[in-house]
Amino acid sequence: MLEKIKKIKNEAIVNILKTDSIAELENLRINYLGKKSEFNQILKGLKDLNEEEKKAVGPEANKAKKDIQDALEKRIDDLEEMVDTEKEWIDVTAPGKKIKRGHLHPITIVQRDIEDIFTSMGFEIADGPEVESEFYNFDAVNVPEEHPGRDMQDTFWISKEEGREKGTGTVLRTQTSSVQVRYMQTHKPPFRIIIPGRVFRQEATDASHEHTFHQFEALVVGKKVSVANFLYIAETFFSQFFGKKLNVRLRPSYFPFVEPGFEFDISCTNCGGKGCSSCKQTGWLEVGGAGMVHQNVFEAAGYEKGKYQGFAWGFGLERLAMMKYKIDDIRHFHGGDVRFTRQF
Ligand code: DAH
Repeated sequence: MLEKIKKIKNEAIVNILKTDSIAELENLRINYLGKKSEFNQILKGLKDLNEEEKKAVGPEANKAKKDIQDALEKRIDDLEEMVDTEKEWIDVTAPGKKIKRGHLHPITIVQRDIEDIFTSMGFEIADGPEVESEFYNFDAVNVPEEHPGRDMQDTFWISKEEGREKGTGTVLRTQTSSVQVRYMQTHKPPFRIIIPGRVFRQEATDASHEHTFHQFEALVVGKKVSVANFLYIAETFFSQFFGKKLNVRLRPSYFPFVEPGFEFDISCTNCGGKGCSSCKQTGWLEVGGAGMVHQNVFEAAGYEKGKYQGFAWGFGLERLAMMKYKIDDIRHFHGGDVRFTRQF
């Protein structure tokens, strides 16, 4: 009898451990411990045994029953736990979700590059208001009312009253040259500054014209500042900005705030000057305007006429970014299409 109990118990436990389904375990319970099970027959038959046999078999049978029950419960717990961990299972080899990070606008990148190069050459960065007085935007830089120079830039007027005193209107600044006299009124030469900033023009937009864009002004004033200084600074700057040696060439031109005035070109960033489609086979790219500061501008700033010399230059930041990143339409910068800005 004892042998039989042991055999049933061992067989039951082996089968319980082999079973992977909770439903199947229920069947095993019925098979091994149910009313019709062999084991139950043994328990029922105990009453027919004599006292001595009862004493030997009874506790063994009860213990075997408990062992089988414990094994069943333990297996059920284990299986349930396995189901849970399956639910929480993490595939560590699965590719991660890409985290979207913010980034700088290409104009900001270019502006910071420019500022880095100039500050490393000892320049300071100056700033001025975007809503500017007519005086600083025009009169102070030698463009009085009726001056044809005003026609060079179509202006957004904030206010311009008839019969007002001259130079008292308000504009959205059309050029960063507006900061020149503001700065000079509060600083004495020698100094070298750059003035990056947003400017506005009432312009029909196309691939190379925008109503809102960025300019970048440089102003260097001292007792003996010359065109040669300008050339050196310009060549150093453009070579660093584009990461290759570039030459600068001057062409005579006219801007009211400089005398002499010139436009300047850099050797083509694409072909290095040999001639290609980017530079229309000329080997040169137009960049901006420059010149020796007009004495009338110094006078407007309160400097003694003839005491100082200086050079100034100005150009569009978008244009520079377009050259660097080979962008063919200025309208991309403020078009708001993230497919464009995401590339930087
Ligand atoms: N302000 C001029 C423009 O917007 C650019 C310019 C030309 C700036 C010559 C200068 C300069 O400082 O000397 O077209």
